[in-house]
Amino acid sequence: MKRTKIVDIFNPELLGKEVCVKGWVRTRRGNKYVQFVALNDGSTIKNIQIVFDMNNFTDEQLKPVTTGSSICVEGILVESMGKGQTCEIQAKTLEVYGTADPEAYPLQKKGHTLEFLREKAHLRPRTNTFGAILRVRSALAYAIHKFFQEKGFFYLNTPLITASDCEGAGAMFQVTTLPLNDLPKNEDGTVDYSQDFFGKPTALTVSGQLEGELGATALGAIYTFGPTFRAENSNTPRHLSEFWMIEPEMAFYDITDNMDLAEEFVKYCIRYALDHCRDDIEFLAEHFDKGLIERLEFVLHNDFVRLTYTEGVKILEESGKKFEFPVSWGIDLQSEHERYLVEEHFKKPVILTDYPKDIKAFYMKQNEDGKTVRAMDVLFPTIGEIIGGSEREADYDKLLKRIEELDIPMKDMWWYLDTRRFGTVPHSGFGLGFERLVLFVTGMTNIRDVIPFPRTPNNAEF
Ligand code: 4AD
Ligand code: MG
Repeated sequence: MKRTKIVDIFNPELLGKEVCVKGWVRTRRGNKYVQFVALNDGSTIKNIQIVFDMNNFTDEQLKPVTTGSSICVEGILVESMGKGQTCEIQAKTLEVYGTADPEAYPLQKKGHTLEFLREKAHLRPRTNTFGAILRVRSALAYAIHKFFQEKGFFYLNTPLITASDCEGAGAMFQVTTLPLNDLPKNEDGTVDYSQDFFGKPTALTVSGQLEGELGATALGAIYTFGPTFRAENSNTPRHLSEFWMIEPEMAFYDITDNMDLAEEFVKYCIRYALDHCRDDIEFLAEHFDKGLIERLEFVLHNDFVRLTYTEGVKILEESGKKFEFPVSWGIDLQSEHERYLVEEHFKKPVILTDYPKDIKAFYMKQNEDGKTVRAMDVLFPTIGEIIGGSEREADYDKLLKRIEELDIPMKDMWWYLDTRRFGTVPHSGFGLGFERLVLFVTGMTNIRDVIPFPRTPNNAEF
């Protein structure tokens, strides 16, 4: 008999009909006359209740049906008298696919802490919480493609292994096939990379932007959506060593167009999740964050406040608030500063622009004042920075001068500079940290809980 997914079973047209469901047992309870099993197959947060009339089944048959075991049941879908569910299945046949020893299976019924579940990341997708988070994550990924595809943006795949450091932060994971305990050396004692796999030093990418610009200055508007890697040793609830980033890049967009797109884009994603993942978001709201849905609606219904970094710093300085990191013009804002502006001062998402050039990457368009660049960061409640972007420097000479000032090796950059040599155009783009978006939409507070298998300093298990 053809299997019905549990997400499709709560359908009045199926009432009275014979159905087949397959999944993992969440709980079993009952007495010697009747046994109730709550079954989940991952297609929805909801379980289907299965009723075993013990006149038709033996104790022996039901014995392996414990939390975590996998079964197949055929039976009749009927209206349920129990509270909390609309229908249930009266079992006719039972097949046990796999048992789960109750002594060994770690996910017993009662709510485990998120910390405990991180240690069990191989099994945590089977919990209500992680099922919900992973379904929301999947829906958001779909929404992102849908948003850009419907706008005529092209999906561009940029390389994961690269020889250039886009952000210039130097926090790259090296990729090499050289034998680490017997490195080939040049006469001067340095490593002889000509013998390495690519004939030069390479690393995992920190951003697909530079190649994204090549795409945008050919196809007009592109977006990337892929993994990025940062070897920064920041053990915070908002940083991963491997995270997913969405990087749209658009020819003929100035910074205002860029801000408009960023705002429309995040609002679209949040709307999509609210419309398509209601049950999961309600579950997460109820169990973790009572204010979640209100906060999501709030972002949707408010214009983001736009101001310059300089204005932002002034507000922070005049706030009278004692920050852990003192504020003055020129510093890189910390999450506490960003959150103060968003949560306490404006009480709305904020887009800060025109940051000091010394704290931003080389490719950003330089302002007339000689001190700032046309950067934009989108700041969100609870998260801080969710998007970072800019208008790009389109002028060849200015860009080259900046590259030289920062000592970026030209041999790595010749192809990038060619976009400014041949038909250069004003253009802009930004990067959205996918996990930060998932954090915001699910109301989770630790980024390790919104990616199936987090990579952080000292943690590459699973
Ligand atoms: O601000 P970032 O470093 O900007 C760039 O990489 C640009 N190349 C983007 C562009 O203009 N195309 O990173 C962009 C976003 C941040 O705003 C943040 O949401 C996320 O990526 N992000 C991280 N997310 C998780 N873990 C980390 N270690 C992250 N670093 C940045
Ligand atoms: Mg940034």
